[in-house]
Amino acid sequence: MDYIYKCSNITKSYRIANQAVTHVLKGLSLEIVRGEFLAIVGPSGVGKSTLLHIVGSLDTPENGELSYNFENIWTDIKSYSSEQLAEIRNKHIGFVFQFHHLLPEFTSIENIMIPAFIAGLPYKQALGKAKSLLHEVGIENKSDNKPMELSGGEQQRVAIARALINNPSIVLADEPTGNLDKDNSESVMELIRKLQKDYNLTFVVATHSNEIASRADRVVKMSDGLIA
Ligand SMILES: Nc1ncnc2c1ncn2[C@@H]1O[C@H](COP(=O)(O)OP(=O)(O)O)[C@@H](O)[C@H]1O
Ligand SMILES: [Mg+2]
Repeated sequence: MDYIYKCSNITKSYRIANQAVTHVLKGLSLEIVRGEFLAIVGPSGVGKSTLLHIVGSLDTPENGELSYNFENIWTDIKSYSSEQLAEIRNKHIGFVFQFHHLLPEFTSIENIMIPAFIAGLPYKQALGKAKSLLHEVGIENKSDNKPMELSGGEQQRVAIARALINNPSIVLADEPTGNLDKDNSESVMELIRKLQKDYNLTFVVATHSNEIASRADRVVKMSDGLIA
Protein backbone atom coordinates (compact mmCIF):
# COMPACT_ATOMS: atom_id res chain seq x y z
CA MET A 1 0.00 0.00 0.00
CA ASP A 2 1.24 3.51 -0.82
CA TYR A 3 0.92 5.33 2.50
CA ILE A 4 1.56 9.03 2.91
CA TYR A 5 1.36 9.16 6.69
CA LYS A 6 1.67 6.73 9.57
CA CYS A 7 1.36 7.13 13.28
CA SER A 8 1.48 4.46 15.92
CA ASN A 9 0.75 4.25 19.63
CA ILE A 10 0.01 7.95 19.95
CA THR A 11 -1.00 9.18 23.38
CA LYS A 12 -2.27 12.61 24.37
CA SER A 13 -3.87 13.88 27.52
CA TYR A 14 -4.90 17.26 28.83
CA ARG A 15 -4.38 18.52 32.34
CA ILE A 16 -6.39 21.41 33.67
CA ALA A 17 -5.62 22.76 37.13
CA ASN A 18 -7.64 21.06 39.87
CA GLN A 19 -9.25 18.63 37.46
CA ALA A 20 -8.63 15.01 36.66
CA VAL A 21 -6.38 14.35 33.66
CA THR A 22 -8.33 13.70 30.44
CA HIS A 23 -6.73 10.92 28.43
CA VAL A 24 -7.84 11.69 24.89
CA LEU A 25 -5.63 9.48 22.72
CA LYS A 26 -4.65 6.18 24.31
CA GLY A 27 -2.17 4.56 21.97
CA LEU A 28 -3.85 5.33 18.68
CA SER A 29 -2.44 4.14 15.34
CA LEU A 30 -3.48 5.35 11.89
CA GLU A 31 -2.23 4.98 8.35
CA ILE A 32 -3.33 7.30 5.55
CA VAL A 33 -3.22 6.07 1.96
CA ARG A 34 -1.96 8.47 -0.71
CA GLY A 35 -4.90 9.77 -2.76
CA GLU A 36 -7.68 8.55 -0.50
CA PHE A 37 -10.60 10.48 0.91
CA LEU A 38 -10.59 9.34 4.52
CA ALA A 39 -13.25 10.22 7.07
CA ILE A 40 -12.49 10.08 10.79
CA VAL A 41 -15.81 9.86 12.62
CA GLY A 42 -16.89 9.79 16.21
CA PRO A 43 -19.03 11.74 18.65
CA SER A 44 -18.10 15.20 19.86
CA GLY A 45 -15.32 15.08 22.45
CA VAL A 46 -13.84 11.79 21.29
CA GLY A 47 -10.59 13.45 20.16
CA LYS A 48 -10.97 13.99 16.39
CA SER A 49 -9.62 17.55 16.45
CA THR A 50 -6.78 16.52 18.76
CA LEU A 51 -5.82 13.77 16.32
CA LEU A 52 -6.06 16.02 13.27
CA HIS A 53 -3.90 18.67 14.94
CA ILE A 54 -1.28 16.01 15.66
CA VAL A 55 -1.43 14.66 12.09
CA GLY A 56 -0.96 18.23 10.84
CA SER A 57 1.95 18.85 13.25
CA LEU A 58 0.07 21.72 14.89
CA ASP A 59 0.32 19.77 18.14
CA THR A 60 2.58 17.03 19.45
CA PRO A 61 1.66 13.78 21.17
CA GLU A 62 3.18 12.65 24.48
CA ASN A 63 4.24 9.27 23.14
CA GLY A 64 4.20 7.41 19.88
CA GLU A 65 5.74 7.51 16.44
CA LEU A 66 4.72 9.71 13.51
CA SER A 67 6.13 9.90 10.03
CA TYR A 68 5.33 11.47 6.67
CA ASN A 69 6.17 10.31 3.21
CA PHE A 70 5.56 13.45 1.15
CA GLU A 71 8.58 13.29 -1.11
CA ASN A 72 9.26 9.60 -1.55
CA ILE A 73 11.08 9.24 1.72
CA TRP A 74 9.80 8.37 5.19
CA THR A 75 10.68 11.10 7.66
CA ASP A 76 10.18 10.97 11.41
CA ILE A 77 8.38 14.14 12.52
CA LYS A 78 10.52 14.29 15.66
CA SER A 79 13.58 14.92 13.50
CA TYR A 80 12.24 18.33 12.43
CA SER A 81 12.65 21.63 14.25
CA SER A 82 9.58 23.81 14.71
CA GLU A 83 10.80 26.06 11.86
CA GLN A 84 11.13 23.07 9.55
CA LEU A 85 7.66 21.89 10.57
CA ALA A 86 6.21 25.30 9.76
CA GLU A 87 7.76 25.06 6.32
CA ILE A 88 6.40 21.54 5.81
CA ARG A 89 2.94 22.68 6.83
CA ASN A 90 3.07 25.57 4.39
CA LYS A 91 4.29 23.43 1.52
CA HIS A 92 2.60 20.08 2.07
CA ILE A 93 -0.41 20.40 4.39
CA GLY A 94 -3.66 22.22 3.67
CA PHE A 95 -5.98 22.95 6.58
CA VAL A 96 -9.71 23.61 6.53
CA PHE A 97 -11.28 24.31 9.92
CA GLN A 98 -14.88 24.46 11.12
CA PHE A 99 -14.60 28.22 11.48
CA HIS A 100 -12.89 29.53 8.39
CA HIS A 101 -9.95 31.27 10.15
CA LEU A 102 -9.68 33.76 7.28
CA LEU A 103 -7.90 37.02 8.03
CA PRO A 104 -10.70 39.61 8.43
CA GLU A 105 -8.82 42.60 6.98
CA PHE A 106 -7.96 40.85 3.69
CA THR A 107 -10.13 40.10 0.66
CA SER A 108 -10.92 36.61 -0.62
CA ILE A 109 -8.22 36.71 -3.25
CA GLU A 110 -5.65 38.01 -0.75
CA ASN A 111 -6.52 35.36 1.82
CA ILE A 112 -6.03 32.67 -0.81
CA MET A 113 -2.69 34.15 -1.91
CA ILE A 114 -1.09 34.46 1.54
CA PRO A 115 0.23 30.86 1.82
CA ALA A 116 1.72 31.25 -1.68
CA PHE A 117 3.58 34.41 -0.59
CA ILE A 118 4.88 32.60 2.48
CA ALA A 119 6.14 29.86 0.16
CA GLY A 120 7.96 32.48 -1.89
CA LEU A 121 5.84 32.43 -5.04
CA PRO A 122 6.08 35.66 -7.07
CA TYR A 123 3.02 37.94 -6.97
CA LYS A 124 1.83 37.32 -10.53
CA GLN A 125 1.97 33.56 -10.21
CA ALA A 126 0.25 33.65 -6.82
CA LEU A 127 -2.49 35.87 -8.22
CA GLY A 128 -3.00 33.64 -11.25
CA LYS A 129 -3.29 30.54 -9.11
CA ALA A 130 -5.59 32.23 -6.61
CA LYS A 131 -7.89 33.43 -9.40
CA SER A 132 -8.16 30.01 -10.93
CA LEU A 133 -8.88 28.47 -7.51
CA LEU A 134 -11.53 31.08 -6.78
CA HIS A 135 -13.15 30.07 -10.05
CA GLU A 136 -12.77 26.40 -9.15
CA VAL A 137 -14.63 26.87 -5.86
CA GLY A 138 -17.35 28.80 -7.68
CA ILE A 139 -17.06 32.32 -6.27
CA GLU A 140 -14.94 34.26 -8.74
CA ASN A 141 -17.38 37.16 -8.31
CA LYS A 142 -16.41 37.46 -4.60
CA SER A 143 -12.74 38.12 -5.21
CA ASP A 144 -12.68 41.54 -3.53
CA ASN A 145 -15.02 40.78 -0.66
CA LYS A 146 -13.68 40.56 2.86
CA PRO A 147 -14.72 37.55 4.99
CA MET A 148 -17.44 39.57 6.76
CA GLU A 149 -19.02 40.28 3.36
CA LEU A 150 -19.34 36.57 2.55
CA SER A 151 -21.88 33.93 3.56
CA GLY A 152 -20.71 30.99 5.68
CA GLY A 153 -20.61 28.73 2.63
CA GLU A 154 -18.60 31.30 0.66
CA GLN A 155 -16.15 31.72 3.55
CA GLN A 156 -15.55 27.98 3.58
CA ARG A 157 -15.01 28.02 -0.20
CA VAL A 158 -12.32 30.67 0.25
CA ALA A 159 -10.76 28.59 3.06
CA ILE A 160 -10.73 25.54 0.77
CA ALA A 161 -9.07 27.50 -2.03
CA ARG A 162 -6.50 28.81 0.43
CA ALA A 163 -5.78 25.25 1.60
CA LEU A 164 -5.07 24.19 -1.99
CA ILE A 165 -2.92 27.03 -3.30
CA ASN A 166 0.44 25.41 -2.57
CA ASN A 167 -0.59 22.05 -4.09
CA PRO A 168 -0.49 20.30 -0.71
CA SER A 169 0.34 16.62 -0.35
CA ILE A 170 -2.50 16.24 2.16
CA VAL A 171 -5.55 18.29 3.16
CA LEU A 172 -6.92 18.06 6.70
CA ALA A 173 -10.46 19.28 7.23
CA ASP A 174 -11.91 19.51 10.74
CA GLU A 175 -15.72 19.59 10.66
CA PRO A 176 -15.53 21.67 7.45
CA THR A 177 -19.31 21.99 7.24
CA GLY A 178 -19.97 22.09 10.99
CA ASN A 179 -20.94 25.73 10.86
CA LEU A 180 -23.17 25.55 7.75
CA ASP A 181 -26.85 24.87 7.16
CA LYS A 182 -27.92 21.67 5.41
CA ASP A 183 -27.94 22.97 1.81
CA ASN A 184 -24.59 24.75 2.13
CA SER A 185 -23.14 21.77 3.91
CA GLU A 186 -24.13 19.51 1.02
CA SER A 187 -22.78 21.79 -1.67
CA VAL A 188 -19.47 22.34 0.17
CA MET A 189 -19.10 18.56 0.61
CA GLU A 190 -19.82 18.06 -3.09
CA LEU A 191 -17.16 20.63 -3.92
CA ILE A 192 -14.63 18.95 -1.60
CA ARG A 193 -15.38 15.58 -3.18
CA LYS A 194 -14.98 17.00 -6.70
CA LEU A 195 -11.68 18.74 -5.91
CA GLN A 196 -10.39 15.63 -4.18
CA LYS A 197 -11.07 13.60 -7.33
CA ASP A 198 -9.95 16.22 -9.85
CA TYR A 199 -6.61 16.79 -8.12
CA ASN A 200 -6.22 13.26 -6.79
CA LEU A 201 -5.80 14.78 -3.33
CA THR A 202 -5.22 12.96 -0.10
CA PHE A 203 -8.08 14.36 1.93
CA VAL A 204 -8.83 13.65 5.58
CA VAL A 205 -12.05 14.93 7.08
CA ALA A 206 -12.95 14.73 10.76
CA THR A 207 -16.68 14.78 11.34
CA HIS A 208 -19.38 13.69 13.76
CA SER A 209 -21.76 13.33 10.80
CA ASN A 210 -22.30 9.87 9.34
CA GLU A 211 -23.87 11.47 6.29
CA ILE A 212 -20.66 13.35 5.48
CA ALA A 213 -18.61 10.24 6.21
CA SER A 214 -20.74 8.30 3.71
CA ARG A 215 -19.07 10.28 0.91
CA ALA A 216 -15.58 9.07 1.85
CA ASP A 217 -13.56 6.23 0.28
CA ARG A 218 -12.80 4.89 3.73
CA VAL A 219 -14.20 5.59 7.18
CA VAL A 220 -12.45 5.01 10.49
CA LYS A 221 -14.29 5.36 13.78
CA MET A 222 -12.72 6.79 16.90
CA SER A 223 -13.81 5.43 20.20
CA ASP A 224 -12.26 5.57 23.66
CA GLY A 225 -9.00 7.09 22.47
CA LEU A 226 -8.37 4.59 19.69
CA ILE A 227 -9.35 3.86 16.11
CA ALA A 228 -12.11 1.30 16.69
N1 LIG B 1 -6.63 22.46 24.91
C1 LIG B 1 -7.35 21.61 25.65
N2 LIG B 1 -7.25 21.63 27.00
C2 LIG B 1 -7.96 20.76 27.76
N3 LIG B 1 -8.79 19.82 27.27
C3 LIG B 1 -8.92 19.75 25.94
C4 LIG B 1 -8.21 20.63 25.05
N4 LIG B 1 -8.54 20.32 23.77
C5 LIG B 1 -9.41 19.30 23.85
N5 LIG B 1 -9.65 18.94 25.14
C6 LIG B 1 -10.52 17.85 25.60
O1 LIG B 1 -10.12 16.68 24.89
C7 LIG B 1 -11.25 15.92 24.50
C8 LIG B 1 -11.24 15.73 22.97
O2 LIG B 1 -11.45 16.98 22.34
P1 LIG B 1 -11.47 17.14 20.76
O3 LIG B 1 -10.21 16.57 20.20
O4 LIG B 1 -11.75 18.55 20.49
O5 LIG B 1 -12.68 16.20 20.35
P2 LIG B 1 -13.63 16.23 19.04
O6 LIG B 1 -12.92 17.03 18.00
O7 LIG B 1 -13.81 14.79 18.67
O8 LIG B 1 -14.91 16.85 19.46
C9 LIG B 1 -12.47 16.64 25.02
O9 LIG B 1 -12.81 16.06 26.25
C10 LIG B 1 -11.98 18.05 25.23
O10 LIG B 1 -12.67 18.69 26.25
MG1 LIG C 1 -13.48 18.67 16.96
